[in-house]
Amino acid sequence: MKAGVGAPGRAQIPERTFRTDGWRVYPLTTGAILIFFILYATVRIFMNQWYWAPEEHYLTPLYSPCLSTSCVPGSSHFGQPMGEIPAFLPMAFITFVILAGFRGTCYYYRKAGYRSLFMAPAACAVPEPHKKYTGESKFPLVILNAHRYFFYGALVFACINIYDAVLSFHGKDGGIGMGVGTVIILINVAMLLAYTLSCHACRHIVGGRLKNFSKHPLRYRYWTFVSKLNVRHGQFAMISLVTVILTDAYIMAVAAGWITDLRIFN
Ligand code: FES
Repeated sequence: MKAGVGAPGRAQIPERTFRTDGWRVYPLTTGAILIFFILYATVRIFMNQWYWAPEEHYLTPLYSPCLSTSCVPGSSHFGQPMGEIPAFLPMAFITFVILAGFRGTCYYYRKAGYRSLFMAPAACAVPEPHKKYTGESKFPLVILNAHRYFFYGALVFACINIYDAVLSFHGKDGGIGMGVGTVIILINVAMLLAYTLSCHACRHIVGGRLKNFSKHPLRYRYWTFVSKLNVRHGQFAMISLVTVILTDAYIMAVAAGWITDLRIFN
């Protein structure tokens, strides 16, 4: 028996869709960005090098925190409790699991992934090719419900990124300094914070499960703030993806000696 739009009782319309606008643009561009980021991040985390610029004190967000004795000297801002990492394992695997888990289970990326990668559906009023709908109630999609737990991890990582940004104000003579890399790192941290704090799970944590706001004025204030950010969550999701790539690429180029960091002072 046919299911979906072909199910008995549904109007049998031969056209795939009556939409005449550019509905393909969103899934195509989003899909291209997502695939590029997945490929870039995979290549980068297996490189295991050029993540720390020692003179400027720039640490790429893809390798932060660096907790192993395999990390290059100076890059472990929180010690090296993990000992040696085998060569076949990316040093950034903990960072990668938390951040990929956070983005992979994010409501916005779920929408983007369903539309762009699985065409389920590709757009409103465009039937999907799949014959069955099982929701997110079975393995592996049921894991997507763990988003709030990844949020807690991402919050810790956001604090670590702030700390890394403070350390990037390092002068070449050992005092305070600032380079173009510092500016790039700061922009990235701002975008990461905007993305993390605008999370739907964050909004629920600060303002959910309340019978009324009047008895919780502080939580109401937080909730109002997060709600304002939340409206732009999708934009922050994509912008922060791009800023992470740019920040990592810049630090890699400086660490590898391909470019010299332009200094604003010292
Ligand atoms: Fe997107 Fe939580 S919903 S990060």
